[in-house]
Amino acid sequence: MTTLGTEPLTATLRPMRLEDVAAAAAIEHASFERGWTPAAFRRELLENRVARYAVALVGGEVAAFAGLWVVLDEGHVVTVAVAPQWRRRGLGRLMVHTLGAIALGHELDSLTLECRPSNEAARALYRKYGFYEVGRRKRYYADGEDALIMTTESLRSPSYQARLARLEEELEALIPGSAAQLRAARDWEWPRFQAEGSSARS
Ligand SMILES: CC(C)(COP(=O)(O)OP(=O)(O)OC[C@H]1O[C@@H](n2cnc3c(N)ncnc32)[C@H](O)[C@@H]1OP(=O)(O)O)[C@@H](O)C(=O)NCCC(=O)NCCS
Repeated sequence: MTTLGTEPLTATLRPMRLEDVAAAAAIEHASFERGWTPAAFRRELLENRVARYAVALVGGEVAAFAGLWVVLDEGHVVTVAVAPQWRRRGLGRLMVHTLGAIALGHELDSLTLECRPSNEAARALYRKYGFYEVGRRKRYYADGEDALIMTTESLRSPSYQARLARLEEELEALIPGSAAQLRAARDWEWPRFQAEGSSARS
């Protein structure tokens, strides 16, 4: 089964907020054996200056989320997860596409991630978004599985831009209104942290 051809979905994209943490942690728990706790999500939102997390709401509920760390000129994809009941409807694409939009908004050059070789669904999704394997980290995961290191070409290259344009069109058929939301995501405002530009208070 492919996602193309299923009923279009209505989804709203926005940066993750503290109020989303419980729902995100529930999706995380349903998706990963050793998932992050709500406290870990809160730390990311409140303390990690380089973290950029997004959610997609369906019917007002968090149905998917994704996160990126801005590391120099690279976007490191930290996580992507879709609630089990909403999978195969295009939300995985939407979240990876959102990370691309956030990366372009920050003028980053490329995206990189680690992925389990056994995670066929994620690998297929990332390949769609032009990620290719550049190496392996031995026994990266707690259970001893290696990680594949995957990266994109330069996000601003004509060939990657053409890929994004094609994927955006496909996504618009799956999730009407997504193209405009993805354009807006490039300009999302992100919290400024105390540590940036001013001295920390005691
Ligand atoms: C991976 C994941 C995010 C995909 O989300 P999704 O909403 O189902 O993805 P989409 O509907 O946007 O599908 C996009 C593409 O992903 C691939 N894909 C998704 N699910 C797949 C599956 N079960 N088997 C094979 N390919 C799959 C396909 O290439 C699909 O494109 P197609 O439908 O045109 O064939 C979702 O399965 C998930 O949350 N998994 C658990 C968390 C996880 O593993 N995250 C990645 C960590 S590296």
